[in-house]
Amino acid sequence: MKEIIPVFPALSRSKKQVGGMVNRAVSFTHGLPPLSLYIHVPWCVKKCPYCDFNSHAQKGELPEERYLNALAADLEQTLPLIWGRQIHTVFIGGGTPSLLSAQAVERLMAMLRNYLNLWPDTEVTLEANPGTAEALRFKQYAESGINRISLGIQSFDDRALGILGRIHDSSQAIEAIEMAQKAVSRINLDLMYALPGQTLASCQKEIETALSFGTEHLSLYHLTMEPNTVFAKYPPSDLPDDDTSAALQDMLIELTALHGLEQYEVSAYARPGARAKHNVNYWEFGDYIGIGPGAHGKLSFHDRIVRTAKVRNPESWMEKAVLHDGSHLAEERELQSSDLPFEFMLNALRLKEGVPVSRYEERTSLSLAGISRPLEEALKKGLLDADPMRIKASPLGWRFLNDLQGLFL
Ligand SMILES: C[S@@+](CC[C@H](N)C(=O)[O-])C[C@H]1O[C@@H](n2cnc3c(N)ncnc32)[C@H](O)[C@@H]1O
Ligand code: SF4
Repeated sequence: MKEIIPVFPALSRSKKQVGGMVNRAVSFTHGLPPLSLYIHVPWCVKKCPYCDFNSHAQKGELPEERYLNALAADLEQTLPLIWGRQIHTVFIGGGTPSLLSAQAVERLMAMLRNYLNLWPDTEVTLEANPGTAEALRFKQYAESGINRISLGIQSFDDRALGILGRIHDSSQAIEAIEMAQKAVSRINLDLMYALPGQTLASCQKEIETALSFGTEHLSLYHLTMEPNTVFAKYPPSDLPDDDTSAALQDMLIELTALHGLEQYEVSAYARPGARAKHNVNYWEFGDYIGIGPGAHGKLSFHDRIVRTAKVRNPESWMEKAVLHDGSHLAEERELQSSDLPFEFMLNALRLKEGVPVSRYEERTSLSLAGISRPLEEALKKGLLDADPMRIKASPLGWRFLNDLQGLFL
């Protein structure tokens, strides 16, 4: 039998499992995880060449009435699975949710309040694109209950915005931020870095512009070439090399910290108390239901954890959801206990501070002893912090996060 790692005292509780995963049924004794709701809006004005999200260029008016009826039907069919559970956060993402009219968002919010156990201060985020922003509509969204807006700025450089195929320019980006600030107090700005032709100096200027608005949250994403996108087939020229990318990343962390925003996840930076509760719930391996085309869910029951996905194509999803026969569900898969260590670590290790050791048992219902081997290996390689209270990547593990997560496969 392998030696128990002294760093994690919890490991010594179940020595029988040390060294091997036992593929036993899940059994939650600590209560179920917090529950979030994701709503997918699949339409955009135009498809961006780097984007692999389930988003589709919409010609003409959005079919709002059919979409809302289908959302209601989708939610009604999900309700029996979450009976009695409180919704912790709501995220309306896309696609471009800011294409929805104020009346549609109002109807959507009324529907959520009608069907779900939502607290008055539940975090409710709506994703918005600068090219579709309108001051009055943002205010109306806020009156309906949206209390956080996430704006897809991407860049303040018109040349870069052109290469990225965005429908907005930098002045529209600035106007959209100002409109959002008049509507809600909680704002996130999405920006991408490592853009074609970007240098340390030009990237710094962009982030300084973003920081100058004083928003509570920034999401800074390294531009990636996703399979099946236009950029995967025709990559833009002049992309920064790996050394420049690494230098950009270091600069972002320093610069945001100087302005009081702490990096708390691979791409997320926030002022104290302003972390995105919805995303943190994903990273802490919480539960979520997803409604709308292609929306994913993860739900814990007393004896199992199930992943779900809805039909991806917006038209088929709308047709099927209203039949109330479950045909809008594309996938329903019970997770094996052998899948759980990797799934948990894939999320939890993205958090800069990691998670308390107890979170592993709470969220997977498995004993930490079952992953003693990879934990031991990660510690030996210096990829995990030797903190007995937390599962947390070390500075080296943070640099080689994929390798660290891969140990739990
Ligand atoms: C769901 S997407 C889209 C939100 C919104 N429709 C928009 O584009 O403004 C959320 C964010 O993911 C980021 N993103 C999408 N594709 C990316 C890629 N290939 N590389 C890096 N970031 C990406 C963008 O910053 C985007 O704002
Ligand atoms: S607007 Fe956003 S969701 Fe739509 S295609 Fe562009 S990046 Fe993707």
